Amino acid sequence: MIPITRLYVGQEEADAAAEAVKSGWLSVGPRAAKFEELVAAKVGAGYGVSVNSCTTALHLALAALDIGPGDEVICPSFTFIATPNSIRYTGATPVFADIDPLTYNIDPAHVETLITSRTRAIMPASQIGLPADLTALRKIAAAHGLHLVEDAAPAFGATLDGVPLGAISDVTCFSFDARKILTTGEGGVITTNDEVLAKRMKALRANAASVSTLTRHTTTAVIQESYDEIGFNYKMTDIQAAVGIVQLGKLDHVVSTRRALAARYNELLAGNDAVTTPYEPAGYGHVYQSYSIRLTRHTQLEVMTAMAERGVATRRITACHLQPAYFDTNAPELPESAKAAENHLLLPHFVGLTEQEQDEVVDALHAATH
Ligand SMILES: Cc1ncc(COP(=O)(O)O)c(C=O)c1O
Repeated sequence: MIPITRLYVGQEEADAAAEAVKSGWLSVGPRAAKFEELVAAKVGAGYGVSVNSCTTALHLALAALDIGPGDEVICPSFTFIATPNSIRYTGATPVFADIDPLTYNIDPAHVETLITSRTRAIMPASQIGLPADLTALRKIAAAHGLHLVEDAAPAFGATLDGVPLGAISDVTCFSFDARKILTTGEGGVITTNDEVLAKRMKALRANAASVSTLTRHTTTAVIQESYDEIGFNYKMTDIQAAVGIVQLGKLDHVVSTRRALAARYNELLAGNDAVTTPYEPAGYGHVYQSYSIRLTRHTQLEVMTAMAERGVATRRITACHLQPAYFDTNAPELPESAKAAENHLLLPHFVGLTEQEQDEVVDALHAATH
């Protein structure tokens, strides 16, 4: 079977993890501090906050902004379910906006129509590795006094007009799970230029202790920490961070390889009029965390099934408002999200995908759509 992804980790990551284990410090510690600093520096943000997933990163960011019951946060429906879930965790209401059919990202014009006196934030997802239209969203957020909390889970390394994601929105949340651009197994990092917010997120990720675990364990002084509010345990371990530090050194290679594979897919699929290849607007630096096509004549299920029978794995993204967990939001019709959820398809796409495997994927797709 050609899988949807294959990990790009090796001896260096194994050695770094072993070193962390042998160091005697496994929980959030010096390596997690270094990793979050390196991630922030890489994207040009002032601060980084490491956490144990992007799902928790999104929740932590909203919680630190005091978003809660009675508030509304506008997000796309065509995204991973963690995006609206993170809003629900706070007690706030996710308000689903439709997407631009070309980019699969939230449509700023629709966002604007959904703003009410309860709206506190916009949470775009930079889906599949392509930045959302952050230029337009920033303007809307500024005009209405809203926070721009970006779900950039699949888009570490992506750029907009040459500026890396992570330094554009008020808060940006990245994922380092096993299918992302870089991985720590599970993990996330939040970047922001807001010092006060970063400090609050660092406290809240560790049960809101007034003194960090690392500080308490590295001093001989007696410390009696206090807990002034309800926090969470969202800490990244030093083992994960050690892997992440090694992975960071591979970012340029990962992004250029994924872009080259995407360009090759584009060429190989150019003659197949039953599929539409991805769109990358001028000025957008797509990292192709996924390679997504549109099926113009066939159903998603029939193509997924036919390709699976030929040994090729595929995946899809859902429209959250059409999932049972969100039926109660009574979302309006979101035609582009519903269409995308029905007719797009993600093909195997990862560093290490050989030309022969890519040819097999394309042959299976041609056969399924002839
Ligand atoms: C758009 C989006 N948001 C959030 C997440 C959640 O990331 P994590 O698995 O790190 O919690 C993902 C992961 O697949 C994602 O694709």
